[in-house]
Amino acid sequence: MKGIILAGGKGTRLYPMTIPVSKQLLPIYDKPMIYYPLSVLLLAGIKEILLISTKESIDLYKDLLGDGKQLGISIEYKIQPKPNGIGDAFILGEDFIKDDNVCLILGDNVFYGNGLTEMLEKASKSKPNFGALIFGYSVNNPTDFGVVEFNDKYEVISLEEKPKVPKSKYAVPGLYFYDNNVINIAKNIKPSDRGELEITDINKEYLKRGDLKVQIMWRGMAWLDTGTPSNMLRASSFVETVQERQGLYIACLEEIAWRKGYINDKQLKESGEKLKKTDYGKYILSLLER
Ligand code: DAU
Repeated sequence: MKGIILAGGKGTRLYPMTIPVSKQLLPIYDKPMIYYPLSVLLLAGIKEILLISTKESIDLYKDLLGDGKQLGISIEYKIQPKPNGIGDAFILGEDFIKDDNVCLILGDNVFYGNGLTEMLEKASKSKPNFGALIFGYSVNNPTDFGVVEFNDKYEVISLEEKPKVPKSKYAVPGLYFYDNNVINIAKNIKPSDRGELEITDINKEYLKRGDLKVQIMWRGMAWLDTGTPSNMLRASSFVETVQERQGLYIACLEEIAWRKGYINDKQLKESGEKLKKTDYGKYILSLLER
């Protein structure tokens, strides 16, 4: 399975912070926001990744992440000329996806919790033509998201993008697994009233075909909102609290790559040495002594 991280957009809801800088490069506690979705793809065992961002920002991501070799993976880059919608990722990524299945994660989505790795690994091993797998997560503010409605057997009845009157409290997080049909579906949906290729319309098409699975992320899992300054602060506090308490890092890319066997001890040490003035670097180096 291939992986796409969508990290474009103008980030207008975070102005003035995001006037000069891409939202997904802003920090969540001690690392750039993009580390969190990238860690999710690594945990899923996905090693071929395409990062999509704006013309202005793409080089900053290249500076930060390079070709991925230091993590034992491959990262390619693609410019999204205009914020045409999340569904645009599959059209821009067509040559990269080729005949594979694909996982899309939004560059501003942070996940953490019990059972996440197992859930991701299973999803990434989906067979060709498996359809689509998305998630439902209970939130207080469903009107801000795609919303999924279930019957009492937790079968999907409907999907709506940012409904004024939500039919449930289950939002759809920005993590989606698709078979290869997603490319054609994305090419055939019409832009919404706000002029975007909506991910919810892609999911609705899978639902219509009877090919959509929705799995609930239960309360042991954290899906953190980074959409406002307050939410960024809360997400940062969450990461700091967990890291301080456990002495284990959330989204330490080098650690995940090392534990997965993508890089060896020597490569891990090299990465740690480069950052050894920081707690992040010291943490990487400490892994070899544990
Ligand atoms: O976070 C989950 C939600 O993400 C879902 O529940 C919604 O169904 C989905 O539409 C999306 O809602 P948002 O309001 O968060 O979408 P937004 O336009 O803010 O875009 C999400 C991210 O994707 C953001 O970091 C910017 C990036 N993006 C967005 C668009 C429209 C792009 O890179 N290119 C784009 O064209």
